Amino acid sequence: MTLPDGSQLDFSHPEAVYPGRLITFEGADGAGKTTQLQQVADWLRSSRILGDRPLVVTREPGGTALGQQLRHLLLSGDWAVVDRAELLLYAADRAQHVEEVLRPALAAGSLVLSDRFVDSTVAYQGFGRKQDLTLIQTLNRIATAGLTSDLTLWFDASLASCLARRQARSGPLDRLERSAGGFHQRVRDGFATLAHREPDRIRRVDANGDAITTFTAAQAVLLDRLESWWGTTCAPVSLGQGG
Ligand SMILES: Nc1ncnc2c1ncn2[C@@H]1O[C@H](COP(=O)(O)OP(=O)(O)OP(=O)(O)O)[C@@H](O)[C@H]1O
Ligand SMILES: [Mg+2]
Repeated sequence: MTLPDGSQLDFSHPEAVYPGRLITFEGADGAGKTTQLQQVADWLRSSRILGDRPLVVTREPGGTALGQQLRHLLLSGDWAVVDRAELLLYAADRAQHVEEVLRPALAAGSLVLSDRFVDSTVAYQGFGRKQDLTLIQTLNRIATAGLTSDLTLWFDASLASCLARRQARSGPLDRLERSAGGFHQRVRDGFATLAHREPDRIRRVDANGDAITTFTAAQAVLLDRLESWWGTTCAPVSLGQGG
């Protein structure tokens, strides 16, 4: 990154190629990310498809002790959070998460599944809150020190499905969920734009159907990627048959 005085700041890690891989689960509130992540983790564990490779399940915000405090500040309170403060709090959570959880896990060869990562910031704060996308990209680079996902599953369900699922889920809506409808449409457009831009890294998974149908679609993408990374082969396991 070039500073105003012309000097260079390099936040990237020289050892940025890791033996592990990072898969992120993205999509709108209520699309089913957490449901799918749990099903994928259960499948990977029970099928032993990863052999001795560790599986790490984490999330943003809130993947670290500091992050849990930040998550509370971001989502739970009735206090005002201006847009730039929201952006910076997410960046702080991410910086801690990357150094404390993601890099060590990837360096140890783990498969890491993260419930949200940088693409959420672009979709929510960039497209949803209409903040400057270049600024967001810069902040993301600082927060991640150049770490990117190896695969992102974008769970795409209609706004109506997401709303119905959020309402059916017990508990009050959080601060971002309470945002007006136009916001959620822009967030969806944001994920669509990102997926169009990076079709290899970001794969859309139709999340309008029931959880098993969605899982089957995600599993097909995952099997293909695991095979290309590690030559692992494993027949798809039907959830309905004890998989
Ligand atoms: N495919 C599906 N069909 C119907 N209901 C679903 C489906 N997937 C998840 N649900 C239900 O919808 C609700 C939202 O799902 P989930 O919490 O997994 O979404 P999420 O994307 O993680 O949401 P958030 O962004 O708020 O964390 C839950 O009550 C879940 O049981
Ligand atoms: Mg969730």
